[in-house]
Amino acid sequence: MLTNSVKTLSQKNVLLNGEWKENKDGKRITLSSPSTAEEIGSIPALSENEVDKAVESANTAQKEWKNTALHERKQLLYHWADNLVDNKEEIGYMIMQEVAKKKSSAIDEVVRTADLIRHTAEEGCRITGDLLTGDSYNGGSPSKIAQVNRVPLGVVLAIAPFNYPVNLSASKIAPALMMGNGVVFKPATQGSLSGIMMIEQLEKAGLPAGLVNITTGRGSEIGDALVTHPGINQISFTGGSETGIRMAQKASMVPMVLELGGKDPAIVLEDADLDKTAKEITAGAFSYSGQRCTAIKRVLVKEEAADELVGKIREKAEELKIGQPEENADITPLINEKSADYVQGLIDDAIDKGAKVITGDDKNGSLLAPTLLDEVTSKMRIAWEEPFGPVLPVIRVKTKEEAIEIANKSEYGLQASVFTQDIDSAHQIADQLEVGSVQLNGKTSRGPDHFPFLGVKQSGQGVQGVRYSLLSLSREKVKVFNG
Ligand code: NAP
Ligand code: G3P
Repeated sequence: MLTNSVKTLSQKNVLLNGEWKENKDGKRITLSSPSTAEEIGSIPALSENEVDKAVESANTAQKEWKNTALHERKQLLYHWADNLVDNKEEIGYMIMQEVAKKKSSAIDEVVRTADLIRHTAEEGCRITGDLLTGDSYNGGSPSKIAQVNRVPLGVVLAIAPFNYPVNLSASKIAPALMMGNGVVFKPATQGSLSGIMMIEQLEKAGLPAGLVNITTGRGSEIGDALVTHPGINQISFTGGSETGIRMAQKASMVPMVLELGGKDPAIVLEDADLDKTAKEITAGAFSYSGQRCTAIKRVLVKEEAADELVGKIREKAEELKIGQPEENADITPLINEKSADYVQGLIDDAIDKGAKVITGDDKNGSLLAPTLLDEVTSKMRIAWEEPFGPVLPVIRVKTKEEAIEIANKSEYGLQASVFTQDIDSAHQIADQLEVGSVQLNGKTSRGPDHFPFLGVKQSGQGVQGVRYSLLSLSREKVKVFNG
């Protein structure tokens, strides 16, 4: 049962080489709730030496795991998913406490993760190889046959962000295991307690000792030791663009999947259904207080529709409940004060440069009211920077070509939304947008989790989404038969 307040602190340890233990020097990081500032628990701060042990353990365990039958791997994942659902209230409560995500969304994240894990288990059994005959190639011989199998990469370093501490961790760990890899898991520091609870359920499901190792500690302190470790064979990272790009420069030849920041535009044409559009944009911009990589982070609206659309978004934004995650508020405190100050700085800069506050611009510590800014121009930082907070800038455009130009000028290229009832225009605009995915008449969103999910430019490299993750966490191995 979800308790309204947890008095006991969650003093968690890490799973290293099949044992739950503290780190040798006993150094720990205390974690507090972003909404109440109360201490909620602590985690070990591992040393570089312990990082080394984690990688070594995953390497050793993987040598056996890679030979397990697919149905054995599938069973482990199914049991993990069942355990998560059985414990969704407790794990959801921890997510709510740790990252100030409203209670219902926090529990939904756990259930969504179980669905992702099950789909990964099923899809993992359908990843087949290929068989090629030589004669299909000009001058080739039919007696030359290539059998193409998929094999594991070895040890995967899974680094996750704070905003989906369970879902975006399992979205790496599950496919990595299904494809026969070992895992070193680095949760976001603010998100580690939830991540550890998730792994506790994986261990209870029958995880072989040493196959998954948790390395908690500040990324700024142990990140380089993890990323440059010679025993790491693939890095699956989700987080900020600055972090990801710096990591890519250090990781040299190791294959990486990077899911990074975004500045997703919503392009609205004059013929759009503005009621539906306003609803989608409000949800897209403000759910989880805008702390989603796929949040709508700018509106590019044709002038003819701008006044009406802004009025409708204002109405919806002002219906959002502001408060604490325990009260299931829609708008909750941001992950920390530094983030809240950064968002407020973007709002202040826009106002100083002439933006009009339609609603919001009200900060109470790290709790910011949903803020709608109109008449935003390209001279304002909010037009280009990723706030990761509840603020939505509206940029008015004269033509759809202008909208496309502004959209593509961003250094980011994650997703975009296009709202219009003219399907030809929708396709024409979508084809010109430099992004991973375009949502037609819907808010930008990663789900459902089997859809391909990718960013271009500074929004990432490689693709996630169940089948795509399974493929990126494995490689081809070719046997050529010469008859
Ligand atoms: P972050 O600060 O980049 O941290 C992400 C992860 O990287 C955390 O586990 C962090 O550990 C770790 N890290 C930090 N420095 C590192 C280093 N030098 N080497 C290795 N790991 C390091 O991102 P965040 O604040 O958690 O998440 C917000 C950002 O992530 C936003 O930009 C958002 O757009 C992006 N994001 C993208 C997606 C996507 O799917 N595209 C999804 C969610 C979030 P610590 O917590 O210990 O610092
Ligand atoms: O920022 C996390 C990203 O994965 C968003 O997921 O489903 O809220 O669009 P979703």
